[in-house]
Amino acid sequence: MSSLPETIRQTLTTFHQQPLLQALQSLPVPDQHRLLEQIQTVDFQMLRDTWRAALTDTPSEHAVHRPAQARAPHNVVRQPVSASDSDAWAQAIRTGEQALQNGQVAVITVAGGQGTRLGFEHPKGMFPIGPVTNRTLFQVFAEQILARRRRHHAAIPWLIMTSDATHQETVRFFESQSYFGLEPASVVFFQQGSLPALDAATGQLLLASPTELALSPDGHGGLIMALQNAGLLTRLHDEGVRHLFYHQVDNPTAIVADPALIGFHSLHQSQLTTSVVCKDSPTERMGVLVDIEGHTEIIEYSELTPEEAARHDDSGQWIFWAGNTAIHVFDLAFLQGLTGKGRQLPLHVARKNVPWVNADGVLVQPNDPNRPNAIKLERFIFDALPMATRTLIIEGDRAREFNPVKNKSGKDSAETSQAALNRIGHLWLQQAGCAVPANSVVEISPLQALDAPELQQRLASGQLQLSDIATRTPQA
Ligand code: UTP
Repeated sequence: MSSLPETIRQTLTTFHQQPLLQALQSLPVPDQHRLLEQIQTVDFQMLRDTWRAALTDTPSEHAVHRPAQARAPHNVVRQPVSASDSDAWAQAIRTGEQALQNGQVAVITVAGGQGTRLGFEHPKGMFPIGPVTNRTLFQVFAEQILARRRRHHAAIPWLIMTSDATHQETVRFFESQSYFGLEPASVVFFQQGSLPALDAATGQLLLASPTELALSPDGHGGLIMALQNAGLLTRLHDEGVRHLFYHQVDNPTAIVADPALIGFHSLHQSQLTTSVVCKDSPTERMGVLVDIEGHTEIIEYSELTPEEAARHDDSGQWIFWAGNTAIHVFDLAFLQGLTGKGRQLPLHVARKNVPWVNADGVLVQPNDPNRPNAIKLERFIFDALPMATRTLIIEGDRAREFNPVKNKSGKDSAETSQAALNRIGHLWLQQAGCAVPANSVVEISPLQALDAPELQQRLASGQLQLSDIATRTPQA
């Protein structure tokens, strides 16, 4: 029997965590250390409130009425169709390029997820996505950033959010690849927090081993506090950064530090700008941006019936068209404002099967997909949207910019994403006047060209030869 701090004993008793208390008491003192450390970071009140709310499973008044109150977003820049639209885009690009050049932009890649749907056994950024060379997702982004730094003579710090699940391997991978040619000091890794999994029926915290809680990353919404805790918000501010370009690790066709997006964001003095694409169909499983009572919010596909999802407004416009690409630009000062007390993003509950160690020290592996044993908690970054007073939505070119790798097969898989990279390569070469066999697979490195005009110019000037471009002909 050990002498536990009285505050811990009291807290665990108050919040009905007797099994955890017993597990803690049964450990020899040296082994208590790690578990105690983890327990000390837990906000038990918040967990209890969230678990209780999840038990009743009744959505709030506000949630029930959201679909009916939703309007198609008002503050939107659509893809250019007219000459004046093209002028506006050109002006935004110039403004964005200026901001990059002035050192006002940093890039954030969120790479802390566990990638369970893909089922890849390493951090998702290490996934080989290049259709010819197997270039990894991390390499695609690193090369984009390097090319953009060179093009705009800009610093563009790169911040990569990792988690307990991905940190070590990610950092080692960058080291082993010599940071893909980037200056190591210009790449910052920072770790997001974790949240404990709870037994769905009892609200007990689950143990992953006798000395460890079952923890998982706190969601991409953990970004704000992770930046704050690492001192990065202050540091970036002091370095003159004003806009944070945010993207996810799974979309190799995201235009990292996109000058158009940054430019519109800056011209509109937006606090949070989001790139959207038009959904393929009302039933496509994608969150959509809408306006609700004067705020921009996201409605998840699961919140809408098929009839609701297909609704048009009085002017004939489809309401739920604006699919979220998870590419955002944040105003740094806005994010700083979200670190204050009481401004934390809300928690979302997901029912999942989580392995756990029972009172006898035995690892239990639940596997009934219809009755998950646990609830996991996450914060979502897009919950920052309604907290902003000035938001902006920019429509991106879907085929060019949004080809994520989420699933093992089918929609949004490696296959569809690689096909997109190949299609984009073919298109750029065609625009540059180069003929390649239609059945060949093409992969253009961001270091060779960031866009079609650059490819054209470099091929025409002889800086690049067609033979430099990676191609392969599939076996018949
Ligand atoms: P997803 O929501 O697609 O989750 O993350 P995931 O973990 O990658 O994949 P699944 O759902 O388990 O299959 C979207 C982006 O947010 C990051 C991911 O790394 C990805 O870039 N993310 C997600 C984090 O950085 N931290 C998290 O806790 C969750």
